[in-house]
Order: sequence, then structure tokens, then C-alpha cells
Amino acid sequence: MADLRAFENTLIYGCDYNPEQWPESVWQEDMALMKRAGVNLVSIAIFGWARLEPEEGVYEFAWLDRIMDMLHQHGIKANLATATASSPAWFALKYPESLPVDKNGVRLGVGSRQQYSPASPIYREKASQLVRQLALRYKNHPALAMWHINNEYGCHIFESFSEETVCAFRNWLHHKYATLDALNEAWGTAFWSQTYYEWAEIQAPAAMPTFYNPSQYLDWRRFSSDMLQECMQMEVDLLREITPEVPVTTNYIGINKHLDQWKMSEIEDVVSIDIYPDPASPSAAIECAAQGDVARSLKQNQPWILMEQAPNQVQWRTLNHTKRPGQMRLWSYQLLARGARGIMYFQWRQSKAGAEKYHSGMVPHDGTDSRTWREIETLGNELKRLPDFCHDPVKAEVAIVLDWNSWWGLEQGSHPHADLNLMELVAQFYAPLHQQNITVQFVRPSDDLSPYRLVCIPNLYLVKEEDARNIETYVQNGGRVVMSYFSGIVNEHDHVYLGGYPAPFRKMLGLKVEEWLALSKEEKRPLENGWSAEQWIDVIRLEGAQAVTTHAADYYAGLPAITTHAFGAGRADYLGVKLPVEQMGLYLKTVLDELQIQPALQVPAGIEVVSRETTVFVLNHHPQTMTIDLPEHKKDLLSGKDVAGQVELPAYGVLILQ
Ligand code: GAL
Repeated sequence: MADLRAFENTLIYGCDYNPEQWPESVWQEDMALMKRAGVNLVSIAIFGWARLEPEEGVYEFAWLDRIMDMLHQHGIKANLATATASSPAWFALKYPESLPVDKNGVRLGVGSRQQYSPASPIYREKASQLVRQLALRYKNHPALAMWHINNEYGCHIFESFSEETVCAFRNWLHHKYATLDALNEAWGTAFWSQTYYEWAEIQAPAAMPTFYNPSQYLDWRRFSSDMLQECMQMEVDLLREITPEVPVTTNYIGINKHLDQWKMSEIEDVVSIDIYPDPASPSAAIECAAQGDVARSLKQNQPWILMEQAPNQVQWRTLNHTKRPGQMRLWSYQLLARGARGIMYFQWRQSKAGAEKYHSGMVPHDGTDSRTWREIETLGNELKRLPDFCHDPVKAEVAIVLDWNSWWGLEQGSHPHADLNLMELVAQFYAPLHQQNITVQFVRPSDDLSPYRLVCIPNLYLVKEEDARNIETYVQNGGRVVMSYFSGIVNEHDHVYLGGYPAPFRKMLGLKVEEWLALSKEEKRPLENGWSAEQWIDVIRLEGAQAVTTHAADYYAGLPAITTHAFGAGRADYLGVKLPVEQMGLYLKTVLDELQIQPALQVPAGIEVVSRETTVFVLNHHPQTMTIDLPEHKKDLLSGKDVAGQVELPAYGVLILQ
């Protein structure tokens, strides 16, 4: 597999670079400023299609040749985009069938971006022609270091209800089920008179009188994710044929529900991700960390790249807060701590026109005499001086199971509770672990779980029989699991496992869930130990497990709310309620203590600690100086000084201890 050879022992520092938005007279200055800031990689031509192919089949590469040459002369590498993210207006006019169609049958127009249905055959054909041209032209260019495929697949258009897409859906289903009998069975179409007798009768789950068939919806999500993946695969195949040595990546928009990022990551060489925390959000640091951990996990700890972050403000929220002085640097180190091999921004020069002109750039509208530029330049130069820690692996003893199929299954209508949101439920585990400075690895339910001392399983609603067995075997062999409610309910077709909930996990958990109660946002129900239940209550009958605490009121008083069960050489805990997050923290702390899983350093709240094999990152998320106590002498890689005892960390300050 191609790798990041060009950056073997170097941290990547770079950005999206859109020189086509500027006269060429500006490009020379760009090069000089990039050198000043320590930029060594730029993503170019991401939205270049209209410029590269001004009319069908007529390619204009001269401008890109010049910029590629210029980059090379200045020792800057290119993460060359395949430019397929925004098809030109001429294309949409000539091939209107390629335009995406929304749920209500409205064909979307041009003048924005991502205006294509991923399944559109003509989009794929024209995109592949462009990619081939680009690959042939630049295959030997010395600046070419990586291919940037498309841009944020599924960011705006993750599904389309165009006629062509519905045809592709039918083909996909035909391929999957072979016969209509198998499809009818899998979709449970005996319900509500939904039986299909011809493939042509099958529609996409667009606007409907009421609830759509949940099994159909699940297949629609899988299909829509697969369509994006097929677009990517098509480009990857072409690029691997022409430039087998050059790594390929596509940038994810954070953790994207609509794209199975486990599957997608298998076909790329390097994972890259765009992370845009809201500086005003109290959970910004946690969200950043979680996205970084997902990025690192997707290719099992291989180096990944933060492909985009904002140098300062974004422009797409209703209120766009500035990053406070030092915050951008802090969040950059936070992601380097979690295994990022590079820090890149959207974008180099702040646009003067277009929908993103109020989005910050590394070079703001007023140029280099600005706080943003000074912070960018300082960080770039600081990274250049850092000794190499790229190959020092991140340590994680705790895993959280994340599965896209289950996510799609969980968040459907016609469920006992309409507010079950997987990312919120993952945060129930992730946030307290983050607060306790326990690094998390994300895993699939089918993964080898044996490297982890603790596996957290937030609401694994849908599970395949063999994956349930995989989890059970992990516990049997000595693992520890903490699973939360509404897990193990349905199979891969969204059919309920009969024989008492959660049938595939009952033996492992030593219990049966007899019924459940859905609580409103305001409701809290008391538990015997003084804690409380929110959102959801399972009425549990023990079948070998022990109650950790029980309900203190109502007809289920005295029945267990949280349980623990010794199973084989391991133990499986079950949360039959949602706990307020502080109580969830207390609960997880008892499990961590029992397993003797500890953070690398004891520090005050709001200081983040991430440990790698030989380095420990300490990050102060407070806007004021904090003091930490370092029991042993360490070298701080940032200052080059030895530190020990009472150490002051300035507001948003960072230490990298070795
Ligand atoms: C990303 C996108 C960039 C730019 C940026 C603005 O989602 O990939 O092209 O739009 O957002 O924050």
C-alpha cells in the first residue's frame, strides 16, 4: 500500500489552497508566506473542475501546471485533488439527470456545490475521465505527494431520489437478495400489504404517507453509503493503476452518519478528517478528541491527517465564534496527541468572494498583520522544531463499539423512544472517560476485542448473530463489557430477536428485559443508591446477574437498574437506564478502578492527558494558568526544558513530556 513516504519523519502542516480564486500575481506572495509559516503540503484544485474542463472534453491544465511547478520550486508538496466534488454548470445543463433529487422529488439546482447524484452514471463517467486526465498529466510531477479524492463525500448530498438512483437501488437489491422472495422476507413485507411481485415496483424511501418500512430504510442507508463508496472506489482504482506509489485519501466531515467510515477507510491509504469544533461549546474539546480517536481507529492506528480545521472563525453556524488566542494551537496539539500526522486548515487565503468569504483563512483579509496569521506562523515554526514523535503509538486500554448499521437502525421512527441519538449515547461513555483522561479506541463489533481491558457498548441496537458471539467470547475469555439499554434487539434486517430481550446477549448479561419505559426530557426516576434514571428504563429480571443498584419507586421498585454478571473468565455489566453524565462518570470510575485502569498523570479537571508509548501530552483547556504536579522529572519537547514538581501551564498551554 502506498504511504506517506514524503513525510516519513515530518509533521505535515498545510491547508486547502485555492489559487484559482486569485490573480497569478498573488501566487508568488503565497509561496513566500507558505515558506514563512512552515507549510509543507497543500490540497489543491478541490473545486477546480470548471476551471480544468471549461467545456466537455476540453482540458486546461496550464494554470495547474504553473502552480504545481511553483510548489515544487518552493519545496511544498501537493495533495492534488481529483476535482470531482463540484461538477461544472455546463455539465448539469447538458446532463440534468445527474442532478440530485430530494425526498420530495425536487431536483436541486446549480450554483452551489456537490450538485450530483452519487449513483449517476454520467457523473461517474465524466468524473473518471477527469481523474484519468489528471493522473496521466501529473503522475511524474515531483510535487505530487498524495491524491485528495473528491471532498467530504456525503457532506451535503448523501442520498438522492433521482430516477437513475432508484434504478441503481433496485440493481443493488437484486445483487444482494437475488430473489424477490428473499427480499420480501428480509423486509418483512407481509406487514401493511407491502409485498413486491416485480423489482420495478420497489421505490426509494422518499416522502410517504407515514412510517416507511424500517428494513427497506436500512438497506437504503447501506445503498446510499455504498454509492458514495463506489464513487471513491472508481477514483481509487484509476489512481492506483496510473500512480500506484502515491497514497490516496478522502477527507471525512467528522463522524458522518451517512457514510460507513469503517468500510470506506479500507479502500484508502491514509485516513483524513475535517474537524470544526464550536469554540463556544463547552463540549468542544471532547468532540475534537472523539473525532480524533475515531480517525485514528479507522485504520487501526495508522497515521491520519487533520485535513481541515478553521484557523479562526467559520461562517456556517448561525453564530460564528472566534477561537480565543491559543485555542487553535491547543486543539492542534490535542489532535497530534491522538495520532494525527499533520495539521491542515481550510483554507490558505481567506476568500474575497463567495459563500465562504467570512470563513477565516490562514492569511486573513487584512494579511499578515493579524492575530490569526501570527498564531498560524508561530505554530508552523514550532512544529518544524519538534523532535519526531510520529511513530510513538497512542495507548488505549478502553474501547467503544461504533457501528454504522446499528446507528442507522437505532435512529428510526416507530421506536419506543424517538430521541435515541447514537452520538449522544456514545458521549455518555466518551465524555466521562475523556474527563478521567482515559484514551479510547473505537472498534467494530466484529473486531478482535482482546487488546482492550474494557469494551463499552453504547446502545448496539442492531447486531449480527456472529458479532454478538464475538462480544460474548471476549467476555468469556476474561474481558469486561459495559453495555447500555436497547442493545441486541434486532438482526441485520431489523427483525426483532425473539425469546426475551436482548436475546443474543442474555446469557452473557445474565438477565432478561421484560419491558421498557420511555421517559420525557424532564422526567427523572429515583434509584436506590441516590442516582437517577433518565430517558429510558428497562424492567429487568435477573437470570444470574447481580443488581448494582435498583429502582426506588413505581411498580418496578426493587428491580435492578444496573447489573453485573460474572461470565466465563470475564464480566458483563448492563445499564438498563440512562444515567446523568456525572453519575455515569462515577459508575465508570468504579469499573476503571476495579480494572486498575489509570490515566498517565493525576491532574486537575479540564487538563487533558494523552499518553503514547514514550510521550505524554498535557493540554490545558482552561482560559487561565493552571498548576499541575509532576511526580517525576520529564523533558518537555516544546520548551526543551526539564520539568518536575509544581509546573505552571499557561492558559491553553501544552506540554509534551518525554
Ligand atoms: C468543509 C469543506 C471545505 C469548506 C469548509 C468550511 O466542510 O470541506 O471546502 O467548505 O468546510 O468550514
